[in-house]
Parts: sequence; structure tokens; C-alpha cells
Amino acid sequence: MPILSTTDLNVSRLCLGGNVFGWTADEDQSFAVLDAYAAAGGNFIDTADVYSAWAEGNSGGESETIIGKWLAKRTDRDQIVVATKVGMLAGFDNQKRDTILTSAERSLKRLGVDHIDLYYNHRDDPNTPLEETLAAYDQLVRDGKVRYVAASNFSAERLARALEIQEREGFAKFVALQPEYNLVSREKFEGDVRDVVAKNGLATVPYYGLARGFLTGKYRPGVEVHSPRAGAASKHLDEHGLQVLEVLDELAETHRTTVAAVALAWLAQQPTVAAPIASARTLEQLSDLTPVLELELTQAEVDRLSAI
Ligand SMILES: NC(=O)c1ccc[n+]([C@@H]2O[C@H](COP(=O)([O-])OP(=O)(O)OC[C@H]3O[C@@H](n4cnc5c(N)ncnc54)[C@H](OP(=O)(O)O)[C@@H]3O)[C@@H](O)[C@H]2O)c1
Repeated sequence: MPILSTTDLNVSRLCLGGNVFGWTADEDQSFAVLDAYAAAGGNFIDTADVYSAWAEGNSGGESETIIGKWLAKRTDRDQIVVATKVGMLAGFDNQKRDTILTSAERSLKRLGVDHIDLYYNHRDDPNTPLEETLAAYDQLVRDGKVRYVAASNFSAERLARALEIQEREGFAKFVALQPEYNLVSREKFEGDVRDVVAKNGLATVPYYGLARGFLTGKYRPGVEVHSPRAGAASKHLDEHGLQVLEVLDELAETHRTTVAAVALAWLAQQPTVAAPIASARTLEQLSDLTPVLELELTQAEVDRLSAI
């Protein structure tokens, strides 16, 4: 298992995305997916206070609550790395000190744990001084409520600035970045952002590892997909996307595995990446993803996909 940058967290090569829990997967389905993921060797779960506030009847916190109930049934809480986030839930959508401290307490309660393993700043807040934000995260670490802190959706410039402040003030430093990054969305991460991550020894934990389902291969010309993600996912169905799918199909056949596993393996083998995040709504979907826990592409295969 890769160790997450400078931490002592051993994480599996697939991080399970939690935004489906309480949204497209009800509680029973979520428990089944979580059980199967852990049984396959997965130990890294990603959620956020805001998941999944956008679903009808929800107000946020549903995913954390389901994960909390699931953890309570298990005896291996210490083997599971739980990551959650603050900063996008209505009423708590900023990075002010009070928001961070209050939201952490609310997340701890919903998750039913005494500490969060990895706590993300979900989105940079240009309206709050970074010093105030970073001091609050540092306090959570000092108080033992959070083990490590991380950033999501930061620009290269703001990430570098945050790391400088953390260094200067002796604050707990960000150990990871969670950007959008996958085989068909590369430009925002590869380049300046990745350079800052690499230079500072952070780990990358990319989200939308499957480009919202596109990289499972289920979006094809003439095929209608029923999913709340279909609109955004099918945007990748252009010439470039089809070229990517063609090579993924071929490599999946070579390795006798799934298109999704090959796409996630490519991501897992990119510089600085510790574990891609992907979600599954059902056991069938999950079983297409878990082969990435073992799958290694050759360098030539990685290069071939990168070149498209
Ligand atoms: N930091 C951030 O700002 C941020 C933003 C977004 C997401 N995230 C995190 O990243 C995680 C992953 O993002 P995501 O779940 O939106 O996208 P994703 O992992 O790229 O796509 C997952 C979706 O693809 C479909 N899928 C998965 N396996 C499949 C299979 N075998 N066959 C067919 N379809 C399959 C499912 O959706 P359908 O069945 O509905 O098609 C599934 O929910 C989230 O859960 C969350 O933890 C973070």
C-alpha cells in the first residue's frame, strides 16, 4: 500500500468516493459497497460535509452519517483512513476559523469517530486570510481531532502560498492535494499545480477518477445512459474521448480486466498520485473498479495512454 506522502497513513491504491452514499446509493446499497470495498483490500474513504446536499430531501452530512454507521459495525476503524472536507456546505461555505472548528465537530459526530484521518479544505476561500484558515486547521491537529490536513481545488499559486505560511508559522502542513484529474481532464493539474505538489512532497488524490463514469466505457455513441451524471460525463464523448476509449478497450483486453481499472491504473501511476478516487453505486460497479488495487500497467502502456 502506498504511504500518503509524509504521513504514516497507508492507503490502498483506490480511494472510495463517498458522494453516492445517501444520493444514488441508499443506506443498504452503501453498506454493501463499503463492505465489498474493504473485503477487496480497500481502506481509504473520501467524503465531505456537503455530500450529498444537492439530492432531494437532503441537507448535507448524509454520506458521513452512513459511513459513521458502517464504521460503528466494524472492529477495524484504525485500519480505515477516513477523509472528509469542509467549506462547501450552505451556511458553512467559507474557510473562516469558526466554520472550520464547528464543521469538524459536526463531521466527527456524524462519522462517530474521535479523529478524522485527513481533513480537506474543500475549496480555497479568497475572502478569508489564509493565516486565519491555516491556524484553525493547525489547532484541530494539535487538539488531536484531525491527524493530517490537505487541500482541494487550489491553484498552484495559492497552494504554494499556503504551504509557505504553514512553514513560516510552524503550522501543520498540507500533506495532499485533491484536484480534478483523470485521463480526459488533465490540463488543470498537469503543469504548475503538479509542480507545486511535487516540489513540496505532497501526495495527489485525484477526484473524478472515472470522469463521472465516462472512463468506465459505458458512454458510447448512440447509447443512452440514465444517471444524474450523464450530462457532464457524455461531454467527453468527442474525438479525443473516443480515441482514449479505443486504447482503454485494447489494454483491458490485454490485461483481462475492465476499462475502468485500466483508466484508474493510469491515474495511479502518474507522478505524485497516491490513490485515485472513484465512486460506485452498486456491487457490480465496484467489482469493475477493484482490479486497480492490483493492476500495474507497463511504462509503455502508460506512455501510450498519456500520448493521446
Ligand atoms: N474535491 C472535490 O471537489 C470533489 C468533487 C467531486 C467528487 N469528489 C470525490 O470524488 C469521488 C468520485 O467522483 P464521482 O463519484 O463524482 O465521479 P467518478 O468516480 O469519476 O465516477 C463515478 C460514477 O461512475 C459510475 N460508475 C462507476 N463504476 C461504474 C461501472 N463499473 N459501470 C458503470 N458506471 C460506473 C457511477 O455513476 P452512475 O451510476 O450514476 O453513472 C459512479 O458513481 C466522489 O465520490 C467524491 O468523494 C471530490
